[in-house]
Amino acid sequence: MNYFIGADLGTSALKLLLFDESGTIVKTVTRSYPVSFPAPGWSEQSPEDWWDAFVSGVRELTEKIAPAEIAAIGLGGQMHGLVALDSEDRVIRPAILWNDGRTDKETAWLNSEIGKETLSAHTANIAFAGFTAPKLLWMQENEPENFAKIRKIMLPKDYVSYRLTGVHCTDYSDASGMLLLDVENRAWSKEMLEICNLREEQMPTLYESHQVVGKLTPSVAELLGLSEHTLVVAGAGDNAAAAIGTGTVGEGKCNISLGTSGTIFISSKSFSVDPYNALHSFCHADGGYHLMGCILSAASCNKWFCEDILGTDDYAAEQAGITEDQLGQNSVFFLPYLMGERSPINDTDARGTFVGLRMDTRREEMVLAVLEGVAFAIRDCLEIARAQGIQIDTSGLCGGGAKSKLWQTIIASVLNLTLTIPKTEQGPDYGAAMLAMVGAGVYPTAKDAADAIVQLKEFITPDPKITSRYDWQYAKFKEIYPSMKELFQKIK
Ligand code: XUL
Repeated sequence: MNYFIGADLGTSALKLLLFDESGTIVKTVTRSYPVSFPAPGWSEQSPEDWWDAFVSGVRELTEKIAPAEIAAIGLGGQMHGLVALDSEDRVIRPAILWNDGRTDKETAWLNSEIGKETLSAHTANIAFAGFTAPKLLWMQENEPENFAKIRKIMLPKDYVSYRLTGVHCTDYSDASGMLLLDVENRAWSKEMLEICNLREEQMPTLYESHQVVGKLTPSVAELLGLSEHTLVVAGAGDNAAAAIGTGTVGEGKCNISLGTSGTIFISSKSFSVDPYNALHSFCHADGGYHLMGCILSAASCNKWFCEDILGTDDYAAEQAGITEDQLGQNSVFFLPYLMGERSPINDTDARGTFVGLRMDTRREEMVLAVLEGVAFAIRDCLEIARAQGIQIDTSGLCGGGAKSKLWQTIIASVLNLTLTIPKTEQGPDYGAAMLAMVGAGVYPTAKDAADAIVQLKEFITPDPKITSRYDWQYAKFKEIYPSMKELFQKIK
């Protein structure tokens, strides 16, 4: 029997799963690691923590399997993070993560001095604070001695691939989020490298997501208790990997992920750019392309409100008292901008906000406002796709937040979409394991793997009554941010 490992190098934890040849999950393992916020709006992690989590997690995952039976490993992971290595391949400084907002100056410089049109012509995207290129400019300005040491740049999951194989690699889906890739032509943009004072040899080698980048080095094979013949495929950014895992491949399919971030992912066989660059235009892990809106805080808003503010991790109990007739009638609103916001407002100064509190406001109304605020923010992204004539009636839903029945109903009704819930709750790790199967030759393409493996459990249809109430609520929600935008700049 052959087995395949899928990994999701998330922001709060590494999730690992083991597939057998039929794509059935044999075992899962999770390892948490810390995020540090060394200054307001900053967000960093230690790549060594990722590696330690991977080593101990894989050893537990495979303890009952003969080493020769682990055929391939696929990695998915948090996008945009900057990992910089020196001439000895040592990590130069902690990784700066996707939700780090320190680069507002560099982002503004790119968008205004280089210009959005030029950026879009070179990369199909404009600058957002979390993207990798502004981080490199920040490092150049604020840590010139570190910038001077850089021999290789890579993304978080690629650091783990490097430790596994010794190969400096990335894949097109993840590379798209660096603002250094010519997305349409799937090649590093010479112009962008020049703008950021980088040389092409500092960049990792580009691969399609299912391509094999190498095998385990002998010392790593021994450390993990696996065989030197185990293949490692390039893998994908977490959203593209989750899209593979939910069957969001080929033309015009949609997937929504409610993880630490919230994303709406629209797959396409051909390249396209939204005229305002409010959505990202990235390569997909199936060989095609996708448009994506990303809100920086999604399930993390619920986690923050329940755990840090209310002091409970029993999310279900907090939601238990909320009835259907409350949906679309809440007088409390919440802006979910706890880490600033990416899509579509691109504002690092935006902040989380409750509006409409009264002396008789109840705890559950605030819990509901948080769930609704996230749904409204995702609708902001969906509206941009709809304004371009992209018709979306159905979407997959995955990520930790997707487990809540109440949140499923809210998302379906706010977005007026039928949601399909996959049979398993796995996201990026599931897709990454499928990419490993493609790399090992079990399936010819990611689409073939998705057709064979992905199964849906249920459909959540929007309730027209609740949807029309939410249309009214959304119109009010849309007025809150513009009226607070200037204030956010003053209170930062
Ligand atoms: C996507 C993005 C996030 C991270 C989360 O552009 O920044 O979804 O990938 O891990």
